[in-house]
Amino acid sequence: MNTTTIKKFIEGIPKAELHLHIEGTFEPELMFKIAKRNNKKIKYNSVDELKKAYSFNNLQEFLDIYYAGANVLIEEQDFYDLTWAYLTKVHEQNVVHVEIFFDPQTHTDRGIAFDTVIKGIYRALQDGEQQLGISFKLIMSFLRHLDEASAFKTLEDALTYKNWISGVGLDSSEVGNPPSKFERVFAKALEEGFITVAHAGEEGPAEYIWEALDLLKVTRIDHGNRCLDDDKLVERLADLQMPLTVCPLSNLELKVVTDLKDHPIPKMIEKNLLVTVNSDDPAYFGGYMNENYLGITQALNLSKKQITQLAKNSFKASWLTDREKEKRIAQIEDYFQNNH
Ligand code: ADE
Ligand code: ZN
Repeated sequence: MNTTTIKKFIEGIPKAELHLHIEGTFEPELMFKIAKRNNKKIKYNSVDELKKAYSFNNLQEFLDIYYAGANVLIEEQDFYDLTWAYLTKVHEQNVVHVEIFFDPQTHTDRGIAFDTVIKGIYRALQDGEQQLGISFKLIMSFLRHLDEASAFKTLEDALTYKNWISGVGLDSSEVGNPPSKFERVFAKALEEGFITVAHAGEEGPAEYIWEALDLLKVTRIDHGNRCLDDDKLVERLADLQMPLTVCPLSNLELKVVTDLKDHPIPKMIEKNLLVTVNSDDPAYFGGYMNENYLGITQALNLSKKQITQLAKNSFKASWLTDREKEKRIAQIEDYFQNNH
């Protein structure tokens, strides 16, 4: 298949994004603009200089830069502008449903009120639904390098916004911060009616995926690459049809894989795992949804049928109602029939 054909096919297919950190969509141009209006300093002198710093050997090197970037976000309007920029970008890419993470502790730890953060993000999501037709769910993620008490405090803050937040997640530095550290926080979150997900098996071992399933009672695993080290775990994930929200360009940029040609997606599909494709932190990893789909399609020689399956999976794995899922899956089926 030639590049133009496949690119057009990927661009046109309706998609859902299920693994996206809103702070990871902060493009350098917008970062400089917001820094200026807030009188905040950025360590780099220009957009180009900042972009040059985006070269990572592992997750931690990325996280250090990602948290530094978020420092310039102060006002509710900043969070609105960040979210709105993401929504307009993915609207062009035919992303019609998003389930996005926000990391409140990144901001509350700097003295920004939880309310300021969530109000800006939520207002943009509502505008995105009304003006762009993008449906959404919001997931509050706990930073796992911080302690349990901080997570409990954050959960407390979230209770006021229960109607706005569908689920809770777990992100940041994985190795040394196992899901078990947050078992009690997640138990309370479940009791309060939140759905749970967790990053597991990105850099951390398969054992962390077991813990996410058994202790945190997650309904999706974010990343999950390392499940392939453990046959019993693969069997369990396949039996459960537990979604994995996989992020190819993130994996490449954070050296989880050395080449997209070695990406585990084909192996995951072969093992009957419910794989979805997502962008994670697109402003830092060189691509949004379509670039991720295109990257793996070209590297792994995926067919239109396989791309179609991945797009269907994105809705199957979402938190939309069964009716909404069926509608989107039927749309994708029509698209495939008309475009292959
Ligand atoms: N926070 C933002 N992106 C992340 C990732 N890929 N892994 C863990 N925490 C993150
Ligand atoms: Zn992530």
